[in-house]
Amino acid sequence: MLNISGHPLIQHKLALLRDVATDTVKFRQLVKELGTLLCYEATRDLRLQPQSVTTPMGTAQGAQLSESVGLVPILRAGLGMIEGVWELIPNAQVWHIGLYRDEKTLRPVEYYNKLPIEPRVQLCLILDPMLATGGSAVATCNILKKWGVTRIKFVGLIGAPEGIKALSDAHPDVDIYLAAQDERLNDIGFIVPGLGDAGDRQFGTS
Ligand code: PRP
Repeated sequence: MLNISGHPLIQHKLALLRDVATDTVKFRQLVKELGTLLCYEATRDLRLQPQSVTTPMGTAQGAQLSESVGLVPILRAGLGMIEGVWELIPNAQVWHIGLYRDEKTLRPVEYYNKLPIEPRVQLCLILDPMLATGGSAVATCNILKKWGVTRIKFVGLIGAPEGIKALSDAHPDVDIYLAAQDERLNDIGFIVPGLGDAGDRQFGTS
C-alpha cells in the first residue's frame, strides 16, 4: 500500500528540504524532523498489548507496544533519518545495510551487511530518503526476507513512479510511506524535481 502524507508539517518541511538554497546543516535537521513525522505515519498500526497502569488516582487501562522494531537505514542517505525515528522509538534496534548504485547500470551493489543469523525484531522500517529506480529498496527487502523478517515497511521522503512501481510489484506486502511522489527519473536515475543527491547534501560531499 502506498501512503503519501499530506500532513502540512511534512509538506512544509519537504519544500524547505528541496530548496537548492538549503545548506547542509539545515538539510540534516530537516531530514531528521521528516524522519520523525513519517515514522509517526508509518507506525499507526503497531501492535499493542493491554497493560494496566497505576496512576496517582487509581488504575487505568493502558497499552504497550508488543512488537520490537528494527530500523534498517540504507547507507548512506538513510542514516540521517535514524535520529528522527529514535525521537519516537528510542529503543529501536538499528541494522545497517550498505548499498550504492552502480553509476552505469543503476543496479544496487551491496557493500555492508552485518545482520546476525536470526532476526531479533518483528517489524523492520527501511529508511532511505530516495526511492528512485527502486533497486536499493527491492534488494533490501530481499535481504530482510531472507533474514526471516515478515513485517517490513519502507519509509522514505520522495519516490519516483518507477521506483514505487518496482517496489510494489516485487514486494506487494511492503507498505510504502513517502512525503511526495515526483514526476519521473532523469536519464542518470535522479528523481525530478526531487532534491538532488540526498547523501551528498546531508554529508556535505557534493
Ligand atoms: C541513493 C539513495 C538510495 C538510492 C536510490 O543512494 O540514497 O539509496 O540511491 O536509488 P534506487 O532507488 O535507484 O536504488 P546512492 O547510491 O547515491 O548512495 P549514497 O546514499 O551512499 O550516496
